[in-house]
Amino acid sequence: MKILVTGAAGFIGFHFINSIKNKKIKIYGIDNLNDYYSTKLKKDRLKYLKKNKNFYFYKIDISNFSSLKKIFKNKFDVVYNFAAQAGVRYSFQNPKQYLESNVVGFFNILELSRITGIKRIFYASSSSVYGDSSSFPINEKNNLNPKNFYALSKKNNEEIAEIYAKKYNINLIGLRFFTVFGEWGRPDMFMMKYLESSKKNKIFKLNNFGNHIRDFTYIKDAISIIKKLKFSSRHDIYNICSNRPVTLKYSIKLMSKFIKKPRTIKVGFQEGDAIKTHGDNRKILKKIKGYKFTSFDLAVKKTILWYLNYKK
Ligand SMILES: NC(=O)c1ccc[n+]([C@@H]2O[C@H](COP(=O)([O-])OP(=O)(O)OC[C@H]3O[C@@H](n4cnc5c(N)ncnc54)[C@H](O)[C@@H]3O)[C@@H](O)[C@H]2O)c1
Repeated sequence: MKILVTGAAGFIGFHFINSIKNKKIKIYGIDNLNDYYSTKLKKDRLKYLKKNKNFYFYKIDISNFSSLKKIFKNKFDVVYNFAAQAGVRYSFQNPKQYLESNVVGFFNILELSRITGIKRIFYASSSSVYGDSSSFPINEKNNLNPKNFYALSKKNNEEIAEIYAKKYNINLIGLRFFTVFGEWGRPDMFMMKYLESSKKNKIFKLNNFGNHIRDFTYIKDAISIIKKLKFSSRHDIYNICSNRPVTLKYSIKLMSKFIKKPRTIKVGFQEGDAIKTHGDNRKILKKIKGYKFTSFDLAVKKTILWYLNYKK
């Protein structure tokens, strides 16, 4: 069996590939290794993955149709699209990047899958497609109300996927991730930023005075859930969340048990931020027949232990 994983050097792509232990699966990973955050971290993830002899890496940009076409000469059984320009705030500075990687790139993946006869595709969407809501937990039937280019690109992915599924009989699963965190995590996200400020004695800017609420989802839970998912209809979309919202203040309290508190400046609400995310995970739990999530405390502890060891 051959699979293609895009965004292989990224946080979720890395963990997904790392979780595959079946020697019969040949894993083709691609990534453009852009410098949105530390390329060293991306290369270290790849170095770790290359211990697996069945992992083949290619530096390819998914927005470049002709170079992507070459890798599709391999007849893949399943495609996992985790490559994207992530980040809400950066989308106000560089919207074009979101159009190229997330919209054109995703279109290229679907189009080449159609041309080469691939029938099974997983793709990353995001909780940000919901925008601000007043009723929680949010389920998959809620209206979508993207508030920034990033969220809009993900909503667009879901819409393109719907048409490809219907028109070309391709099975697609869209994964609406909610604040995924854990070992090898993204340096542009809250938890890693906090740890980095502590380690480097930098001032930490706490948005919305720490009152944001996030449905933090541990990476190992997210990956285990994806691996249990089977295609059922042409196009399914699931919230990937723990249904366990906590305030940033609470997670700081937890992290402070293990690390020195950085000097913190509390600032107000930042443009594009969601005040609260809290997903309903009943649809996914019903589909995979239940799942026991790692406790938040343990997941935070494991994240910190990894960070301290990595930074040695
Ligand atoms: N981590 C989260 O909490 C979260 C939440 C919601 C949605 N998502 C989505 O899940 C997916 C994976 O997220 P992540 O946290 O691993 O992000 P990440 O930035 O760590 O990984 C994405 C990877 O894709 C690569 N990439 C970007 N543009 C590319 C392009 N044009 N061609 C090839 N490679 C490209 C990047 O270099 C990076 O390594 C993304 O689609 C993201 O939008 C993540």
